[in-house]
Amino acid sequence: MEFLEIFFLFLIYAIPMYFANAAPIILHGEIPLDFGKKLFGKRILGDGKTILGTFSGILVGVSAGALIYFLIPQAQLIDNYFTFIVFLSIGAMLGDICKSFLKRRIGLERGSHWAIADQWDFILGGLILSSFVRTPELEVIIVLLVITIFMHSITNILAYKLKLKKVPW
Ligand code: CTP
Ligand code: MG
Repeated sequence: MEFLEIFFLFLIYAIPMYFANAAPIILHGEIPLDFGKKLFGKRILGDGKTILGTFSGILVGVSAGALIYFLIPQAQLIDNYFTFIVFLSIGAMLGDICKSFLKRRIGLERGSHWAIADQWDFILGGLILSSFVRTPELEVIIVLLVITIFMHSITNILAYKLKLKKVPW
């Protein structure tokens, strides 16, 4: 595949998933998805996963996907594009939810760091669910996973420089 082709496909995948993942940080609610229920003494998901946050993620992810349909011509070549961006966004949320489920099972508190898993959760979720609509190219999967690790470091260093965070990681 050509470089530009991979780059545009990367954007088509990344934008809905990144927006879906970021939206709940700003727009989230009070009612947790697990309604405060526990499993073997530990919260099923924890207070970090709310009903409103999950819906805002899906809605913002799909909206971002709809917008790029008009901006990136390659997007118009994808069959069932709307289902594709819905699956990318729902998948991103499900990936994050599954990761929280696993974090609680291994005893990690809400908001604690779990290297790699915290960064790849939504990407893997989006890739898996959207693969029912479109099979992702190996190159695109690799670029998504690598860029996501870098993006995480860059945003953290930036937040540190802007004094939004106390530590640069
Ligand atoms: N959020 C939400 N609903 C979701 C995902 C996220 O309301 N489905 C909001 C929560 O306020 C959460 C914040 O976005 O605290 C950041 O999300 P995330 O880092 O995924 O959650 P954590 O608080 O770190 O919790 P966990 O340890 O379970 O990952
Ligand atoms: Mg977190």
